[in-house]
Formats: sequence, structure tokens, C-alpha cells
Amino acid sequence: MTQLLIRGGRVVDPAGKLDALRDVRVRDRRIAEIGEHLTARDDEELFDAGGAVVAPGFIDMHVHLRYPGYPEKETIDTGTRAAVRGGFSSVACMPNTNPALDTPDAIELLNAEAATRAHCRVYAIAAMTRGRRGRELADFAALARAGAVAFSDDGDTVADAAVAHAAAVRARDVPAPFIGHCEEPALKAALGNDGIVEDAAVARDLLIAASTKKAWHIAHLSTATALALLRFARTCGVCATCEVTPHHLTFSAGTTGLGASEAVNPPLRRDADVAALRAGVRDGTIDVFACDHAPHTAAEKAADGTDAAPGYSGLEVAVGAYAAAVPDLPLSRFVELLSVNPARILRLPPPSLTPGSVADITMFADRSWIVRPQDFASLGKFTPFAGRALPRKILATVVDGRLAYHASRETA
Ligand code: DOR
Repeated sequence: MTQLLIRGGRVVDPAGKLDALRDVRVRDRRIAEIGEHLTARDDEELFDAGGAVVAPGFIDMHVHLRYPGYPEKETIDTGTRAAVRGGFSSVACMPNTNPALDTPDAIELLNAEAATRAHCRVYAIAAMTRGRRGRELADFAALARAGAVAFSDDGDTVADAAVAHAAAVRARDVPAPFIGHCEEPALKAALGNDGIVEDAAVARDLLIAASTKKAWHIAHLSTATALALLRFARTCGVCATCEVTPHHLTFSAGTTGLGASEAVNPPLRRDADVAALRAGVRDGTIDVFACDHAPHTAAEKAADGTDAAPGYSGLEVAVGAYAAAVPDLPLSRFVELLSVNPARILRLPPPSLTPGSVADITMFADRSWIVRPQDFASLGKFTPFAGRALPRKILATVVDGRLAYHASRETA
């Protein structure tokens, strides 16, 4: 077991209410000590943070690791290598796999694969309905016992409101939240990328959350109206949260210059939506940054017309892209959106650097770098951020006391 001394970092720990230059000692997978000018011990590896920010480990609660079923798009190995390169010590992965993660056996298989191959913590999000077909409810209590931290048919909305309502009633006593992929399918078929497709689904989900009291999280919220609906629902006491992606915070439709490959669900929206999302991050309406890492093969992304696979590889650009989109966000808020808040929503141990905490740590600096998808660890090399300069760079990621990624060594 390596022991670690991180020297000369700016420790930003919202839970510990700390923002100060400190050294951090990690021993036996836990934070052992925080102090000024700690002396290295013989068995310790030294990490010179050189003024970089040292924060509790980031969590991305919305990634697609494609296990099982799609090893040509991503594997647990490559997806979690991408995660630690992106500063994430934990990810929660979506169940639109083959087969879907809709039984305790499927969750256990994923957990076993992660135990041997993953470079970071992997939490399973189980399907809401069997086979994600939107009809038969999953066994929520059994899935939660197997380790599922949330339920979602992500990639698809549960089309039938009665099924979604029945699901919420059945899952009411299971603390793990529902995560809604909000695109109303009939409206999507009729209207394509119109924002009403999302707004109608968000309104419905919030009404079901209000009536059933089920904890509800809106995935990749992308419109100004959906954000306003969420604000209103909260004033009525609805327990609902939401996340926003790097791409919806950055691009409006047609501005990427990527043609058909711009495809992503939900689609890129209008300038006014991008501005509203940024405002929602600043005013606290948006709880979480989550990248919806959706790797596809180059051929799948290059397909013509409406056939291009939807989604972008996000883990390795996310932190830089958030910083570019909301450069004025205070660092403690930035860290909350990436660690404290996703942990609270998924009922994970509260991320902190106070002594005794599990040693999951993310280190980053405000240093400009250029996105080179060919260098990604992810098998999915497609990103609308390719070639862009981003202002914040991940320097190292510590997972369970182990240096899982070190930028200047590329140990991951
Ligand atoms: O663009 C997307 N791609 N959105 C989703 O919700 C699913 C994802 C995928 O699995 O490829």
C-alpha cells in the first residue's frame, strides 16, 4: 500500500468548510491529516501540488460504460481510464446495455467486472422497466440490494405515464432516486428537436414526483422552460434535482460545424437555452454537472443523415468544459456540483477531505490545454470540443488512496 503526501495544494473542501493552502496526508486509503508544512515520512510518495486545487474526488453520475454488450464502443477498462483522466474517482453507469441492467444478476455481473477492471469506483444505475421497454416494472428493492444507486431507462423515456406513476409508487420506499430521460416519444416523432419534447416530459415527471413523493432527478436538462418548471416544482415542495452536460452548456444547435454527427439526445438547443442553463448553474437551480459520456465508434458517428449515433465522449473534457462555460463560478460551488451534490442525490458517502474520510481526491489547475481526442483513453473519440482550448486541466486523481492518474506520468 503506497502512502501519499500531497504538498502545497489549495484544498477546497466544501463539506469541511475549508479553502486554504494545506498539505494532505493519505494513509491506508484514508485522509490521515490536513495541515500546514507536514513532513514526509519514509514510506510516503510525495506529490507536489504546486498551488493546484485539491478537492474531494469528482463523481460523474451519468456515464455509459457500454458493459455488457458493446465492447467496440467502450469497456469498463477504457471508460474508467477515461474517468480518472477526467478527474473522476467515481462514476455511475447507465443501464442501456445489452442485456439491460434490469436484474440483480446483471448488476452483480457489472460489479464483478468493475472489481477486476475498473480504475475508479463504479456504481450501477438499474433500469426502471424490464428490458427498458417501458411496460413491466423492475424489482426496485432487489436491485437496490444488489447495489443499484438509482433507476432509469436512460436513452428512452418511460412513454406511458401510468407505468411511470406505478413505478414511483412501487419504488417509494426505496431511497435510490429515479432519473428521468425526458423526451416525450410521440412528440419527438412528430416534432423532432423542438424543446417542447423535453418540456412535456419534464412537466409530467415532476407531477408524478409531486403525487408520489418519489425522489426524482432530471437527466441532462437542456431547455430554459424545463428549468423554470423545476424551479416551480421546488416551490411546491417537490423533491427533484437536475444535472446539466458540458455540451448543453456550450453549444447551440448547428453551431458545432459537425453536421449530422452533432446528433445527441437531448439535442443541442437555442442560444437562450444555453444562457438559461448557465444562469441555472450560477443561481443554484442546477445541482450537478454530469457529462452523459456516450462513446460510439467512428463509423457510428460518421453515418449519414439521421443515422449518426447520438452522443459524445465526455469524461476527458468535462471539467475543462464546465470551467469554460461558467468561468465565474466560485470554486467551492464548482466542487459541490461535481462531488457533494451527486453523492447526496445517489446516497453515497459524503465526499470530504476531513481526516478519516475515504481518500478519493481530484487535483486540477487553471491551465489551458487543447482537446486532442486521439489521446483519449476512451474508445469513443468523438467530441464537439475537439481542437478547442479549455481553461482547466486535471493533474491527478486519487481513488481509494491510490494515485490512479497523474498527468505528468500518465500512470492510468
Ligand atoms: O446522446 C445520447 N446518447 N443520449 C442518451 O440519452 C443516450 C446516449 C447513448 O447511450 O448513446
